[in-house]
This record gives sequence, C-alpha cells and structure tokens, in this order.
Amino acid sequence: MLLKTEHISKQFNGVYALKDINFEILPGEIHGLVGENGAGKSTLIKILTGVYSLDEGKILWDGGEVSISNPVQSRQVGINVIHQDRILIPSFSGVENAYLGREYITSGGRIDWKAMEKNVRDTAESLGIDIDLTKTAAELSPPQKTCLEIIRAMMEDCRLLILDEPTASLTDKESEILFRIIGTLKQKGTAILYVTHRMDEIFRLTDRITIFKNGAMVETVNTSDVTKDELVGKMTDQWKSESIARKDRFGEVLLEAEGIRSRDGVVREGNLQVRRGEILGVFGLGGSGRTELLECIYGYRPIAAGRVILAGKEITKPSPAESIRNGVALVCEDRRGKAMIGSLSIKDNILLSCIDKYARGGVLDEKREALDAQQKVEALQIKIAGIGQRAIELSGGNQQKVVFAKALMTEPQVFLCDEPTQAVDVKTRNEIHRLLRQKADEGNAVVYVSSDLKEILEVADNIRIMVRGRTAELLKNEDLTSNEVLAYCYDK
Ligand SMILES: Nc1ncnc2c1ncn2[C@@H]1O[C@H](COP(=O)(O)OP(=O)(O)OP(=O)(O)O)[C@@H](O)[C@H]1O
Ligand SMILES: [Mg+2]
Repeated sequence: MLLKTEHISKQFNGVYALKDINFEILPGEIHGLVGENGAGKSTLIKILTGVYSLDEGKILWDGGEVSISNPVQSRQVGINVIHQDRILIPSFSGVENAYLGREYITSGGRIDWKAMEKNVRDTAESLGIDIDLTKTAAELSPPQKTCLEIIRAMMEDCRLLILDEPTASLTDKESEILFRIIGTLKQKGTAILYVTHRMDEIFRLTDRITIFKNGAMVETVNTSDVTKDELVGKMTDQWKSESIARKDRFGEVLLEAEGIRSRDGVVREGNLQVRRGEILGVFGLGGSGRTELLECIYGYRPIAAGRVILAGKEITKPSPAESIRNGVALVCEDRRGKAMIGSLSIKDNILLSCIDKYARGGVLDEKREALDAQQKVEALQIKIAGIGQRAIELSGGNQQKVVFAKALMTEPQVFLCDEPTQAVDVKTRNEIHRLLRQKADEGNAVVYVSSDLKEILEVADNIRIMVRGRTAELLKNEDLTSNEVLAYCYDK
C-alpha cells in the first residue's frame, strides 16, 4: 500500500466537509475519485497536499504515519498535484512557472536560468511533452497549460500524482495527449488519483474507483466490477438521467452574427444564426476561436469587423452593458477570471447583473433580493451554508452553478453558453441541459459551446463547426457520430 488515510475528518464553520475517510491507494494504480459537487473530493486532495490541515485522523505513507502540514512537505513525501483551480502565472514563462514555489538554482549568487531550463526540459522530454518553454503561460493553449502543470508536478520524484479534473476545458482530441502522458507515468510506476465528472474517462483510465457522498466515503470498487449506471447510482441516490428531446422546428431568427472578426485576429470570420426555440452547438478544436466568437457577440472582446443582429436590430459595436440590456447573457467557463467575484457573497454574485431591479426610489429591497437568490439556489441545488457565504468557499462545481444562476436572474432571451457545465456533476449537468431546453421551448435561443463533443451531441439541435477562427459547416444533429463531427474540424 502506498497511501492510506485513517479516520480523516475536516470541518468548515462547524460543518463536516469530510467525515471519517478511510481509503487507500496502491503503488502504480490509477485510482478514480468520484462524487457530486461538494462531496469533498477537492478537500481530501487539499489535505493530502498540505493546503488544508486535518481535524482528525492520520495519513500513512508506505505504512508509516506522515505529517503533511504544507505543500512543500507533501512534495517531499512524493505527492504532487494539479489542482482544480490552475495556478500558472500568465505573464511567467514555462520555466518560471515550473519553478513556482520551488527554490531557484543559483551559482555564484546568480540565478542559473540555463540549469533551470535544462531541468524543466529534461522533465518534459522524459514525459514525451513538447512545448515551447520560453512562451508565457498566457500564450499557451489549454492543453499546453495542462502539460505545463504536469511538467511542474513531475519536476521532482513523484510517486503519487493527483489530477483534479484535468480534462475540464480540453477537447477529446486534446485529452488524448493527457491520457498518453498518464499511460507513460503508470508505466513508470507512479500512482495516480484521478478526479473527474466525466464517466467515460473514469472507465477508460482507472483500475479502482472510490465514491464520496456528502463528505462521507461510500466505498471503493474495482472498475471492472461496476457499470456506469451503477456508479452514478452510488453517487446520487439512484438518480437516473433524463434524455433531452431534440427539435427540428424553430421560430424566427433571434440572433445573427455576420462576418465577425475580432480585433486581435483570433476570430477571423464568424457567421451564425440561432432561432427562437433552438439550441445551437458550436464546436471546434482548442484554439479554433469558439469561446472568442461568443465573447465578440457578447461584446466582451472588441471586434474589428462584422455585425450582430438581435431580433432584427443591428448592433455594430456590441458591449456587455448593451447585451445585458438586450437580454443576452453570457455563461462562461472561467469562474475566477470573469464570471464570479469570489470575495462577494453568493447572493451578491447571483444578483450581480440585475441589481437595478431591486432598487426602488433609492432603497434596496433586500428581502426580495434574498428571496430570489434563495430560490435560484434551490432550483439548481447549489450546496451552500447560506446565501451570505462567500462564493470562493464553494466547491468548484457549485461555483459554476452560481454563475449559471446569475445568468438566469436576468431572464435573458439569448443564452450564450461557454462550457456552462464545466466541473459540474452528472446530475446538475442534466439539470442545466433540461433548463436550457425549457428556456428554448419558451421562445428563447441558446448558443452552446463545449469542448466536450459528447455533450454537444447530447444537447444541440444543430452544430456549427469552427476551424481556425472561422465558422464552417452547419450540421443537423441527427444520427451524427463524434468521428463525423471531428472530421469537419481539421483544416482541409
Ligand atoms: N475554504 C472553505 N471554506 C468553507 N467551506 C469550504 C471550503 N472549502 C470547501 N468547503 C466546503 O466543503 C464541501 C466540500 O467541498 P469540495 O471542494 O471538497 O467538493 P468537491 O467534491 O471537490 O466538489 P466539486 O465536484 O464541485 O469540485 C463543500 O460544501 C464546500 O462548500
Ligand atoms: Mg472539487
């Protein structure tokens, strides 16, 4: 046995986030960790990596008790991690990022960049990763960032690598790169603890799976002994997913984007139309400009050419303020960066875009505010201590639900969704899909961007392909396979 936890517990504000956890990881195994949003997965990881201290229990490593009270100690033990919230510094180069939190190599009182670069390069080579280490993190694509995180994690001897939702925001194709690296690590005998909400990855990669529910451990099973339905059942009290009916009849065109070119050149030509009642999927490989196109339409990213037509009205210079006024909502993936303010309460985050609605004659109707926010929390089953809690304290998936709740508050007629279910558990994912369908059925329109092609195939009526900054084919989502869609995503 490599790692064993005995009776580990952790409380926040008097509530158990983890209770009496006894689980073990074998040397060289890939161990999956699953559970609904807020089940305690990241909390366990933060305990194992010295970010949080434990309240009760102990950790055994190679059979002996170890104390892990800070990240440095955790690394010394041989545990490395890629956290759910990535921690690369955008303006730092690959080498600088790989050395974050580590002592720089010096010779003669100077930083020896050459030696450091060589170390990083050697690690990258041993893992079969090829990225430009002189580029800043901001210049890297999402999969390249994940690769850099892996290099960072593997810089010193590592016997347990923990990955907390590593494929969120990676496309299938890009995830393959990661899976290949995981295969290499397994061959080297590194054990891996793998956290994800994507069930097919769990079944493809892991040897064993541990299930958490409400801070408690349900059990550990051999992957080959369970089916996907059984596993989801164990996580969610036997909840069953509801399939979302697709449509092929729609109302008038509600939103149209024509010849959109972003000022930074990432979007070269974006054209799309979405009608009332329609969920339009937009899919492309990483770097194809799908997110950026949505940002242009919303007005978040400046455009150099093109126009947006909303309900027949032309908007030549979209801006977020105008979008909100016009009932266009952007639900985006980057929680920390754009969509959520961690230090504000859950209530203030949910009401962020519609505070005006609650002010009457200069007085804020706090009662109504609280009621409306609470109602959204319940509708989306957001797991919180109270609506006054700071958003940053929520689990990753619950933060994403707050972002979604905020969009719903403005009662938009157009939903621009960019990975709205990233980090969200299977149950809520289904719930969000169902809600969007309902919104479309009520006469609204939805544009849905996801890096997860299976998700697009589940939810979209039609799919618009994007290749290198340009929109391409429009596919009707009928008997389409992933491979067929992917075939359109490459340059011809
Ligand atoms: N710093 C904190 N302060 C207060 N509560 C916290 C803190 N960190 C976590 N919690 C609470 O602990 C519980 C478990 O959270 P955790 O992040 O471990 O969930 P998770 O299983 O990783 O969920 P997800 O799938 O959404 O990432 C949640 O209810 C969360 O709100
Ligand atoms: Mg988490």
